[in-house]
Amino acid sequence: MNVLVIGSGGREHTLAWKIAQSKKCDKIFVAPGNAGTLSLGTNLDLGVNDFAGLAEAIKSKNIGLVVIGPEDPLVNGLRDYLQKVDGLQDLLIVGPGKDGAQLEGSKDFSKDFMQEFGIPTAASRTFTKENIEEGYAYIEGQKAPIVVKADGLAAGKGVIIAQTVAEAKDALRSMLLENKFAEAGQKVLIEQYLDGIELSVFVLTDGKNYKILPEAKDYKRIGEQDKGLNTGGMGSVSPVPFATTEFLGKVEEQVVKPTLNGLAAKEIDYVGFIFIGLMNMQGEPYVIEYNVRMGDPETQVVIPRLDCDLLEVLEAAGKGTLNEVSLAIKPEVATTVVSVAGGYPESYEKGNEIVGLDDNLAATIFHAGTKIQDDRIVTNGGRVLAATGRGGSIEEALENSYSVYSTISWKDIYFRRDIGQDLMNL
Ligand code: AMP
Ligand code: GLY
Repeated sequence: MNVLVIGSGGREHTLAWKIAQSKKCDKIFVAPGNAGTLSLGTNLDLGVNDFAGLAEAIKSKNIGLVVIGPEDPLVNGLRDYLQKVDGLQDLLIVGPGKDGAQLEGSKDFSKDFMQEFGIPTAASRTFTKENIEEGYAYIEGQKAPIVVKADGLAAGKGVIIAQTVAEAKDALRSMLLENKFAEAGQKVLIEQYLDGIELSVFVLTDGKNYKILPEAKDYKRIGEQDKGLNTGGMGSVSPVPFATTEFLGKVEEQVVKPTLNGLAAKEIDYVGFIFIGLMNMQGEPYVIEYNVRMGDPETQVVIPRLDCDLLEVLEAAGKGTLNEVSLAIKPEVATTVVSVAGGYPESYEKGNEIVGLDDNLAATIFHAGTKIQDDRIVTNGGRVLAATGRGGSIEEALENSYSVYSTISWKDIYFRRDIGQDLMNL
């Protein structure tokens, strides 16, 4: 079978890397891909929102299965579009339609969904320009910190943890009246602050059956000790030591099952990944958010721990037969350390040559912002590489992740040196 992975990040390189190992995989295509995915198959020069171009490529390359990596094309309805194209009726698509993608595309929708189906989450109310005065009054009745969230997609930047009532009111005003997040900020949620430790759980569903993938913790801030601006993610670790069997059991019963039952009750035929962002508060799970795709860089530690043929599993998800496959997980620890262009997540340079990408490194290198220019691999984005190390312990996996950065470099490379440190003595 020929496979197309849509996207260009470390997540997509990792998915393509694992799919390419399948005996069932003939040719693999990535659109648009990066310098790393080139070594696995063919990059197609098509943007993730170029629906017509993607449909054309799927036909001409005789693609049997598509995995949609990022949220944007999912929220924009790529699945729905492809399903209507003549000749693509048998195409297997991993990724929900526009209806299911609202779980990520609208925080107001997902909050209502959780409340309707009794899924534990922070108390919250939604306000618009029309009732902003009620919003101010509601904020005054809350204890700081207060969480202020733009409803729509804002690339991880739409959440403000206000430390005072005044700061929360300011955030509400700037979103509703000053268009801070444009369309995404036309509705704003004021939410209870959840105090605990975060982790993420990943589910793959075919609409009826589901498999729970390994859990992971990511490191979102640019600076060590979780200081500084938010990023797409600077590193991740799987498994998470505080995610005990008991805790994960609660997640399955109180979150995963009601989520899937809720989707069915709403007649949303959901095929794809569900990424559940959780807060562990004294052993109880609370949902912070849903994403309708895998995480990046969580994929770089979750997928390498799968001890099975990923294409077989994805094919089963597409066909509605996930109950017929098993998903084995390796007991090892995986860590990934993301290296970024100096200046990221603010302005940064592109086009710097990356040296030291040798074979035989102790970690697997997944590319994100890279491309080939004049036969050299150069930086082409903020997050550039992720080095996934594996081992019997977090220490061992981290040693492998970090070892590659004594070889790999480019002008102004930066990476956090404290990934996983907080998990070491748990
Ligand atoms: P989200 O875009 O909803 O994932 O939020 C981004 C980040 O903000 C999360 O990963 C949390 O670290 C933080 N956050 C969001 N909602 C809450 C909440 N209710 N309580 C505490 N932290 C939160
Ligand atoms: N690492 C967080 C995300 O993919 O949304």
